[in-house]
Amino acid sequence: MEVEKLSLKIREFDIEDYKQVSELWVKAGLGFRLGDDIDSVKTKMTRDPDLFLVAVERGVIVGTVMGAWDGRRGWIYHLGVLPAYRRKGIAGRLIDELEVRMKRKGVLKVNGLVYSWNVISKRFFSERGYKVLDMTEVEKQLGQWNHKVIDPSREGGREAKRTIAEGQPQSGARAGRLNGKKQ
Ligand SMILES: CC(C)(COP(=O)(O)OP(=O)(O)OC[C@H]1O[C@@H](n2cnc3c(N)ncnc32)[C@H](O)[C@@H]1OP(=O)(O)O)[C@@H](O)C(=O)NCCC(=O)NCCS
Repeated sequence: MEVEKLSLKIREFDIEDYKQVSELWVKAGLGFRLGDDIDSVKTKMTRDPDLFLVAVERGVIVGTVMGAWDGRRGWIYHLGVLPAYRRKGIAGRLIDELEVRMKRKGVLKVNGLVYSWNVISKRFFSERGYKVLDMTEVEKQLGQWNHKVIDPSREGGREAKRTIAEGQPQSGARAGRLNGKKQ
């Protein structure tokens, strides 16, 4: 299926999309991480709601990207496409739209964080004119994330009280999923 044959629509995320989108994050291999619970997403929506985009194909959300503008740089988070819809230009469409919206806000430079092992993502961004920099990300968790969340990775969505620490090393299985080896 080529992109011309898709009836793809790119639109802004709505909180009603949360369940589908959080499930997509897991299915795309992005996981369910600190800041992905519904309360955190609602907080994110108080800033740049116009930069959080979904790609919809025949009523199904098949891709998503969460953009942010901190006043200095534009940031790209959570770019993901459902495995069955990859290589059809969907991520490209999401990033095109995000860049247009960022430019409108006055963003001069956009950055994204990509794990060094994520060769597909690095290739995707470099094909779109992004420089792949040799940098090391540093991070520190400043508080406990202790949210009652629906865990979308479990069949039927199970409610669970979880505390998740960001920055945990990713297992080989997760790395494989992100690279489309295991779908
Ligand atoms: C990275 C990802 C978002 C790309 O989504 P996509 O919709 O398949 O990307 P596109 O179809 O727009 O790809 C555009 C170009 O990127 C490159 N690309 C994308 N997937 C590729 C792959 N599996 N192998 C090699 N190149 C690839 C190609 O240059 C491609 O152009 P082409 O198809 O004409 O060759 C998707 O693979 C994904 O969801 N991966 C898991 C989550 C992830 O890693 N997100 C990024 C976190 S930083």
